[in-house]
Amino acid sequence: MKYKAVIFDLDGVICHTDKYHYQAWKTIADELSIPFDETINNRLRGVSRMESFEIILEKYPGEMSQEEKVAYTEKKNAVYKELLKNMSPKDLSPEVWETLEKLRGAGLKLAIGSSSKNARFILGQLGLGTYFDAISDGNNISRSKPDPEVFLKAAEYLSEAPADCLVVEDAKAGVEAAKAGGMDCAAIGDAAFCGIADYDLSTFSDLCRAVR
Ligand code: BG6
Ligand code: MG
Repeated sequence: MKYKAVIFDLDGVICHTDKYHYQAWKTIADELSIPFDETINNRLRGVSRMESFEIILEKYPGEMSQEEKVAYTEKKNAVYKELLKNMSPKDLSPEVWETLEKLRGAGLKLAIGSSSKNARFILGQLGLGTYFDAISDGNNISRSKPDPEVFLKAAEYLSEAPADCLVVEDAKAGVEAAKAGGMDCAAIGDAAFCGIADYDLSTFSDLCRAVR
């Protein structure tokens, strides 16, 4: 094995929460009469909640105080968390589950490195609440991707050196974060076309080849 551990981004890698983020942000954008579509939603991948709102506010003509921004992001999260209750173990694809089990069976440690403050809730919904060896998420970082903090913390929680960890990401900011942290990165989805990852996966199970 080329690595001792694999650190997975959550949203867009282990599961797909895009549509719920979209619906929740759309509620807020509509309330503020801000144009919001899938193209803007795609820019929010891997970005923290407040930074996401700042991107949405690029099309807001007025001024907004910090208190209002906090109130709107809290409201978005309340809507989002309600939607997340629709998630269940059925939202974990057999391919993802089988690949995780193969990697674990090969002796690799497995961790989550996600910007989301809802990561543990989502993992619980998927039936993976106690599956990973470590979880580094939006609650234990002060800097968002492309800063490597979330992945460096995951490596620290696993007691592994960054160079022994492979990160799996679907967002360019996440690939940049992994590289900035001295880690190899396997990109999936849109990130597989950014040209800076060590491996570009066409499907999740390709990971089994990447780690050998
Ligand atoms: C990332 C998502 O995983 O988490 C982003 O890709 C999201 O779109 C970020 O903004 C923060 O999520 P949360 O759940 O803390 O609002
Ligand atoms: Mg992601």
